[in-house]
Amino acid sequence: MTGTVPDVSGEVTSGLTVLVKRQNGPMDAPVYESEALAAIDAATTTDDLDEARVRYLGRRSELKLALREVRDRESGMTLNATRERLEQAVERKDAELRAAELERALAAEAVDVTLPGDRRPLGTLHPSTLTRRVIEDAFLGLGYEIVDDREVETVHYNFDQLAFPPAHPTRSPRDTLFLGGDRLLRTETSPSQIHAMEAKPPPIYMVSIGRVYRRDSIDATHFPIFHQFEGLAVDRHITLADLKGTLLHVMRALFGEDRQVRFRTHYFPFTEPSMEPDVSCPICAGEGCRTCKYTGWIELGGSGMVDPQVLTNVGLDPEEWSGFAFGCGIERSAQLRHGIDEIRPFWENDLRILRQF
Ligand code: DAH
Repeated sequence: MTGTVPDVSGEVTSGLTVLVKRQNGPMDAPVYESEALAAIDAATTTDDLDEARVRYLGRRSELKLALREVRDRESGMTLNATRERLEQAVERKDAELRAAELERALAAEAVDVTLPGDRRPLGTLHPSTLTRRVIEDAFLGLGYEIVDDREVETVHYNFDQLAFPPAHPTRSPRDTLFLGGDRLLRTETSPSQIHAMEAKPPPIYMVSIGRVYRRDSIDATHFPIFHQFEGLAVDRHITLADLKGTLLHVMRALFGEDRQVRFRTHYFPFTEPSMEPDVSCPICAGEGCRTCKYTGWIELGGSGMVDPQVLTNVGLDPEEWSGFAFGCGIERSAQLRHGIDEIRPFWENDLRILRQF
């Protein structure tokens, strides 16, 4: 069976509904083939094509039934040739439809990589964190270890080991937040000096950074939580000059290379002598302004040489070892760095303020 396929388009009533004109008696292979080819050709989707395939090549199609009943060689060959041509036609059409469907899907799902993406809101670092990082970098540069200590302390570590006298006012629940028994929220980072000296023998060079708690009423300069950074160096032959040089290095990292540091004598239970370090005002460069109350200097915390009693408390011989220590507020440093007037914004989470840094 060769030659052109007869034109059967007139018999195609829709893409699929090809009416097979049955004759009584043996099937008419050329008519069957041309109807099947028309149906295959008319398929616009792979589903359509599948329907045509089932109808003309399926197990119960007229062709398959006829093939089963064939008795003579010649009609067997004719029908098989028909089947083969139809199978090839289905295969070709299938490839064609699949390619077209893929083409359509790709077009529909195309992503324009040149379109701007969804913008994710990006946060900023909190000014306390920014300042903390400057401090950490400065001390890491000096070879210090940065430690993060406990916020819940005991009377033993917060006061006794630091040689606070028994009647010192900060031991009172009026100043300090007790948690029951002798547990309390640390009032300063200084107890981490004791933990550091108990943990390993000198030389010790460490900075402890974290939150401290005091029973203060909230106002422009007070908040019951704030951060401190606490330094401790214990070694042989440590002097006040080492303390001053170290503070100068850190103050310059925080407030600029032109800063100077001076000491005013003071008293802390755990240092002897004790000093309050001042830094030359970074706002007016020492000329005198509102921030430094026209003194040219800004108070930054406390410092001193570790009291021999404190060394003795942790089992170190003050004849052999000496050390210095200091503690400063992080919010206070951040206020100066960023020109923030009050401490309250550090804890109020007002994004209109915090986003500016
Ligand atoms: N802990 C003191 C405070 O909170 C600050 C301080 C003073 C820390 C002297 C020190 C120090 O390490 O040596 O006011």
